[in-house]
Amino acid sequence: MADPAKKTVFSGIRPTGPAHLGNFAGAMRNWLALQDKYNCFYSIVTWHALSSEYQNSKVIKGYTYEMALDLLSIGLDPARCVIFVQSEVKEHAELHLLLSMVTPLPWVERVPTFKDMQKEMADKDLNTYGYLGYPVLQTADILLYKGEIVPVGEDQAAHLELAREICRRFNRLIGEVFPEPQMLLTETPRLAGTDGRKMSKSFGNAIYLKDAPETIRAKIATMVTDTRRQRRSDPGEPADCPVFTLHAAFVEKPRREELARGCRTAGIGCLECKGVVIERLLELLGSYWEKRAEFEKKPSRIWEILDEGNRRARRVAEATMEDVRAALGF
Ligand code: TRP
Ligand code: SF4
Repeated sequence: MADPAKKTVFSGIRPTGPAHLGNFAGAMRNWLALQDKYNCFYSIVTWHALSSEYQNSKVIKGYTYEMALDLLSIGLDPARCVIFVQSEVKEHAELHLLLSMVTPLPWVERVPTFKDMQKEMADKDLNTYGYLGYPVLQTADILLYKGEIVPVGEDQAAHLELAREICRRFNRLIGEVFPEPQMLLTETPRLAGTDGRKMSKSFGNAIYLKDAPETIRAKIATMVTDTRRQRRSDPGEPADCPVFTLHAAFVEKPRREELARGCRTAGIGCLECKGVVIERLLELLGSYWEKRAEFEKKPSRIWEILDEGNRRARRVAEATMEDVRAALGF
């Protein structure tokens, strides 16, 4: 099944509920493009979710289902990649523990996301041992599959740098077990939500993949635009328009540039401009909705696919842990 001539890709996504356009334009869409070129392992990282949602752990299982349904419906194919649940492969915990032994405390303390996320999610107490270890767990995820390529957005750069350092240190101190993972920087455009702030589930401004076509139409139709365009005859600036972040992610460049000119010269109205991105999204999501409807007829299919993915992941994880234990001399 795994082609030894292909390099191994690993990436993870936190189960945070149904995916919105921001998740799709970031991680999810990039994963699709890699599934034939590499041996891909894609993990729904339940323990990473738990590190910030430990006071609300009961929602994670449902979110895992939602995320799997979304990943499969956008076209990830379980015959061509491994989709699995992190917490169903216990070796992630074992390798995390072992890596924690060789990881100097200052290395994790200086990872900027540790303090940044505490500020960003001030309603949650993230000053925990588990949260400090977040990037070490992420390192274990990657190394457990001897991942060579890790497609992630810019926001994960510090975590990947740490992963590479931990990898080198383990190989030097314990034994040459792991290839050093490379970061594959993927475009993760910042999408604005309906209110103009960053699209986020917690702001209640998100457009979800599973939204019905009418809902998508309505959400975009009422979305805020550049405030300069009070009247149809007022020129605007696409760079200051939340709607145009959707164009940037989903509308091809020539068409987009034409619209930008139209906005700046008041040659087109916002209604028309929004219409273009709405039609593009409906077209893009057509096959997603079809696939999703099929899966929804048989919800148990999702858990079966994950079970099979968990089994395939486990086989690789177990083999790696044998190498690790041998290197340790255990
Ligand atoms: N921390 C990543 C994020 O928030 C998710 C993640 C967990 C991940 N483990 C990973 C990404 C391993 C790449 C590789 O997006
Ligand atoms: Fe935004 Fe388009 Fe309206 Fe310009 S024309 S303000 S880019 S919606």
